[in-house]
Amino acid sequence: MTKEFVAADVLHEYAVRFRIALTSSDFANFLDKMDPMKHLKEEFYIPCNDNGVYLSGNSLGLQPKNLERIILEELYVWKMSHDFGRPWVSMSDICLEQLSYILGCSISEIAVMNSLTCNLHLLMVSFYNPTKERYKILIESPSFPSDYCAIESQIRFHDLNPSECIIQLKPRANEYVLRHEDIIDCIEKHGDQISLILFSGINYYTGQLFDIKEITDAAHKKVILTFFSMILGCIAGFDLAHCVGNVSLFLHEWNVDFAAWCSYKYLNSGPGGISGIFVHQKHDHRPLKRLSGWWGHDKNHRFNMDNELRPTIGAGGYQLSNPCVLSIGCLYASMQVFKKTTMSEICTKHLLMSSFLRLLIEEYKLPLKIITPVKDSERGSQLSLLVETTDIDKLHDFLKSENITCDVRKPNVIRVAPSAFYNTFADCFYFAGTLNKYFNQF
Ligand SMILES: Cc1ncc(COP(=O)(O)O)c(C=O)c1O
Repeated sequence: MTKEFVAADVLHEYAVRFRIALTSSDFANFLDKMDPMKHLKEEFYIPCNDNGVYLSGNSLGLQPKNLERIILEELYVWKMSHDFGRPWVSMSDICLEQLSYILGCSISEIAVMNSLTCNLHLLMVSFYNPTKERYKILIESPSFPSDYCAIESQIRFHDLNPSECIIQLKPRANEYVLRHEDIIDCIEKHGDQISLILFSGINYYTGQLFDIKEITDAAHKKVILTFFSMILGCIAGFDLAHCVGNVSLFLHEWNVDFAAWCSYKYLNSGPGGISGIFVHQKHDHRPLKRLSGWWGHDKNHRFNMDNELRPTIGAGGYQLSNPCVLSIGCLYASMQVFKKTTMSEICTKHLLMSSFLRLLIEEYKLPLKIITPVKDSERGSQLSLLVETTDIDKLHDFLKSENITCDVRKPNVIRVAPSAFYNTFADCFYFAGTLNKYFNQF
């Protein structure tokens, strides 16, 4: 039997085997030298000066260097009717193969379209079908405000009262993240009233990665199919904004009903970059309600210009409008870089870097708490530092003044997320040392 990969153990074993102190800069440099992805840093613009460190890939991924060329080519096509082999009518398809690999599903189960909140709404039109008995939506706390607002407005749209329909599961008293068993208990207890579970894959505030498969399995134990295969719950849908390109996903195999994500974080596709959806194949022939537009037409009929909708089978049927080719160009540029590595390499490096970062921060015994779970299976690259003993904005300003880019999420968290593509173990070492420098002033 092969030994289970545990990032922190791997770091300890290397330090012992190569006789380098675990939390030293020598060890950081050693890890960087061994890094099979190190050449990929060259593929990105790093917006800090030479001493700077960018640790906000969880918020806005960096710009791939090939992006400018691809966008200029699209502008040239527009200006001169040139052909770079990317016809606009099928532009939304050019990223699907690589994305399906990143998400663990088939190409027909995904579509590239719109923005994240917009897609969550479109999916809830299909998958939130409240009845007298089943009308609740289960989400985690703290949920991303846009998701909460979207859910609240969907409930109101059905003339229901959000306070009676939303179950927002909070961590236990004096705890920061949800216990898996509490999520499953909640589904078991309330499942008969739940129409929809809409969880994040990774929580934006805590960095906690939920067990998407087990949540989906627990939901499906409570599923009801009507006589006409209409599903009345419990549907399992996920906001994967902080998962996609960060952790391994197997959406098809896990039987997830639907998901949506944005592409401007770990997918490096630029501010407001185009979103995507996943709808499991099993729903292809179910009578789902949905909103439609001409881009959801089967491609062979799209330009027939009649009013008879013959939707594309699969997630493509959810497309409404012809998408912005420049946005897709940005995603395409990033997908070309993803093609140069594997999800296994990316995820392994995310776990190793964030484990190393945690070891360094813990070594300094600073007056802050890392609230992101320790276990590899419960996190990705992000670490959330709970800061309660100092003014968080002052600390953030200090980090900025030391050329570190990371972000604050109110009320009390600093988020850092080393990206496998462009961060180094030396970046982690610099960040931890700078944090230590701040607290040593007092
Ligand atoms: C978890 C999560 N959900 C939803 C959103 C909102 O995304 P958008 O503004 O693209 O709709 C974000 C944005 O950062 C997010 O992190």
